[in-house]
Amino acid sequence: MDQAQNLRNIVKQHIETEKQNKTARVITVTSGKGGVGKTSTSLNLAIELTRMGNKVIIFDADFGLANIEVMIGAVPRYNLSDMILRGKKLEDILLDGPMGIRYISGGSGINHFEDLNKDQVIYMLHEFHQLETMADIIIIDTGAGISHTVMEFVASSMEVILVTTPEPTSITDAYSLLKALNRHEGFDPENTEVKLLANKVDDYTDGQSLYKKLNMVVSKFLDMKLEFMGVIPNDSHMSKSIIMQKPVALSFPKSKSAQAYVELAEALMNGTHMSEDEKRGLSYIFTKYLKIRKGD
Ligand SMILES: Nc1ncnc2c1ncn2[C@@H]1O[C@H](COP(=O)(O)OP(=O)(O)OP(=O)(O)O)[C@@H](O)[C@H]1O
Ligand SMILES: [Mg+2]
Repeated sequence: MDQAQNLRNIVKQHIETEKQNKTARVITVTSGKGGVGKTSTSLNLAIELTRMGNKVIIFDADFGLANIEVMIGAVPRYNLSDMILRGKKLEDILLDGPMGIRYISGGSGINHFEDLNKDQVIYMLHEFHQLETMADIIIIDTGAGISHTVMEFVASSMEVILVTTPEPTSITDAYSLLKALNRHEGFDPENTEVKLLANKVDDYTDGQSLYKKLNMVVSKFLDMKLEFMGVIPNDSHMSKSIIMQKPVALSFPKSKSAQAYVELAEALMNGTHMSEDEKRGLSYIFTKYLKIRKGD
């Protein structure tokens, strides 16, 4: 048995065990175009979901950039690469954010599965498993656009929030992302639910018309369903909160954007979502990303 086969077997076994154990609900936040509000959404949703009694961990998979760190004004000492490659423990890389929300920085990412040895893979799966038991919900904040990383994360997630603004390029880039997703070998529309979040809109109707525009082309040309999640209005409190390094849900809880996050979090908790049939935890998503299962 070669080294790669050996690792695939370890991962397979792990995924089988994972199915029997508690896994967190993983929600992946993505967008076609950059700067449309993924990090704001991840953070403010995390706050509202925490208020509702969930334990939430945010994973920053926008490798290289450190967005959330800026928004909460704290910098983690270590990142995911330090854990997998340099043996740091999970607790070393977890940063405590507001309200007990914890945050993990992806760091520069782990791009080559070939670089990881068997012990590193086992260690990573073990630590991830621990992570899942610590959280009810894990929010993955991805980078924007169609990259290998984003596509793998999105295709292997069960719940995806696609953030889009009414800007024409934001809508066309969202469509490009969905088109690439539709073609992606790991994507199965039965297993991945994609919900559109219309951000920076004038009002609900504005958001609905954005959804209708995008959904018209999606339903015509792609073999997948796009759900409508809701809207976040354009709100100047958002930029003020960035300067204060305090998310709007905490700095201006009465503002219209903060109120919209409350509604979205409630809808997420009250709505039905695919979770119990086929569990896909963080290690499933990561092993996909690392292409460990390639050749299965
Ligand atoms: N609803 C909103 N109203 C007003 N401003 C907003 C809104 N949502 C986000 N913004 C502003 O847009 C900017 C980009 O937001 P954010 O950093 O969340 O986007 P992003 O998609 O994570 O960006 P990147 O692709 O660079 O990671 C921020 O300055 C933020 O304050
Ligand atoms: Mg961001």
